[in-house]
Amino acid sequence: MPDKSLSGEVFIPSDEVLRHVHVRDWDKLIGEAEKDLEGFWSREAHELHWFEHWDKVLDDSHKPFFKWFTNGKTNIVYNCLDRHTQTARRNKLALMWEGEKGEFRSFSYFALKRETCRFANVLRSLGVQKGDRVTLYMGRIPELMIGMLACARIGAIHSVVYGGFTVEALHERLEDSQSKVLIVADGAYQRGKIVPLKAIADEALQRAATVESVLVVKRTGEAVNMESGRDMWYHELMALPIAGMQCHIEVMDAEDPLFILYTSGTTGKPKAILHTHGGYMVGTYSTLKYVFDIHDEDRYWCAADPGWITGHSYIVYGPLLNGTTSFMYEGAPTYPYPNRWWQMIEKYGINVLYTAPTAIRGLMRFGEAWPNRHDLSSLRILGSVGEPINPEAWKWYHRVIGKGRCPIMDTWWQTETGMFMITPTPAVTLKPGSGTRPFPGVKMDVLDEEGKPAGVNEEGFLVIKTPWPAMMRTIYRDPERYKAQYWSKFPGAYLTGDSARKDEDGYYWVIGRVDDVIKVSGYRLGTAEIESALVSHHAIAEAAAIGLPHDVKGNAIHTFVIVKAGVEKSEKLIEELRAHVAHEMGPIAKPDSIQFVDSLPKTRSGKIMRRVLKARALGQEPKDLTTLEE
Ligand code: PRX
Repeated sequence: MPDKSLSGEVFIPSDEVLRHVHVRDWDKLIGEAEKDLEGFWSREAHELHWFEHWDKVLDDSHKPFFKWFTNGKTNIVYNCLDRHTQTARRNKLALMWEGEKGEFRSFSYFALKRETCRFANVLRSLGVQKGDRVTLYMGRIPELMIGMLACARIGAIHSVVYGGFTVEALHERLEDSQSKVLIVADGAYQRGKIVPLKAIADEALQRAATVESVLVVKRTGEAVNMESGRDMWYHELMALPIAGMQCHIEVMDAEDPLFILYTSGTTGKPKAILHTHGGYMVGTYSTLKYVFDIHDEDRYWCAADPGWITGHSYIVYGPLLNGTTSFMYEGAPTYPYPNRWWQMIEKYGINVLYTAPTAIRGLMRFGEAWPNRHDLSSLRILGSVGEPINPEAWKWYHRVIGKGRCPIMDTWWQTETGMFMITPTPAVTLKPGSGTRPFPGVKMDVLDEEGKPAGVNEEGFLVIKTPWPAMMRTIYRDPERYKAQYWSKFPGAYLTGDSARKDEDGYYWVIGRVDDVIKVSGYRLGTAEIESALVSHHAIAEAAAIGLPHDVKGNAIHTFVIVKAGVEKSEKLIEELRAHVAHEMGPIAKPDSIQFVDSLPKTRSGKIMRRVLKARALGQEPKDLTTLEE
């Protein structure tokens, strides 16, 4: 039955879904939060435990350096674990895990707290203190979650590096964060093969001066090099008496850092986005509860990687804060067969599945027969994140996976926002391809070049106009860059870097990045990083990278290179360059194509005009060439 009040194709919530939701009248909640922002977030925060109450919900006296729950004392891990172990949830499963080869491990809240405490004690015994940085570099295994929680428990700042990155990306992040400890797995299983994480880390560590200890988790059992005095086995340390089961929790100020996470920006190196214990905790707790309608009996699966923000907020912290049972799967969606995901949904009775459009498009290619072999009737809600979902993928997901019963939560947010910003709830009427409207308390807009609100359906800059608790606080050790990058284009507004339009019903349609960021299979890569990986090859003088539309990946990486004098331009060199980028940055950054050119379009100040390259590659006329040098 269509909702006549809205334009276009719509999907209205069924009575079955509406009976279940925490809040039926979502508009009312949006209205209340608009009238009383602090009151709304204060009520949400009161559902969690605080060692000491805050003085003020929002302190905006030093914009754009906002503070939330000032002088409140908490620790996110207390709310993720200790709070539940004092209730009947102590015996509830916190984590169910399946390895790519089919092994199963699970942890009750009691067990996850115990393992976290034991590992936190190990870290303390190695001299890790509040404020120290610890880098984690692993595949999707429980120890990654335990490692993150152990750091947070003792007030150390974790920095997770995605296991799909390689040498240079890891080295840069270790060095920039000045990490004292690296926690790494010996290797990771991916599509039946082993990724040698420890060997990659060894190479990165050669130039990372601050790392004192390396803790190695045995996952594959392959032989690895252990440097004496520096490298130690996780399981050996965990067997020592120092790994006691009680671990005093560090009382954290609401504004104390919880983690940094590197992400690609407009220029240069990746930026360390900083999140805190207090506001981030409230934001991830509240958004997950409402949007995925979390109830105690649920089994929830976010199929992202903990190495990205989706995993931080909605595999680790959000689900544990809500006391839910999370499922984590180590491997590839199609290994060994394209029914792997659907089989696991049936096997574990998953109620909520949260994934990315690229995964859906990838699985769609194998046809309906694979999901149709399985009973997917446990599913209640589906989710999407990372890039715009095209209506065909949305409808396939809705019809074939959700059997037309499960609403799709298309959540728009970023590493920087920490939590969902534009999102429906199951009680909201949906339009395929739109994330609907901002979460309560979040005010957004689409602005034109002059900073004026764009007209209905007019494309413009997507901005955020009110502070929100899970917002990034700064770029770690670079507050000026935080101000310049996010808060300088339009006064008083946070610049997302995305373009969007708002339709006649106030629904947002995100179009994509307007800066030099490419979203490849939902992963965020900077053109600058790909280019610097290319230029680090001895044959290359200059390089430019652009994203071009791709059916499954969303965007494919196309690059243009100028070779140094005397270098022969050959197919062999192209293959060598692609392998070189994969070695330096990781397989996800491997260019789909490399083209030899003699010059690159540049501005008079010497900046590469990627939009000119892109327009040319798409056979379009580039707009506005006034700044082009030649
Ligand atoms: O371009 C938007 C896109 O992903 C960017 C943020 O990337 P990252 O920080 O890696 O975080 C991804 C997971 C939260 C955004 O600027 N994006 C994210 N979600 C959506 C999206 N684009 C359209 N629709 C979405 N639902």
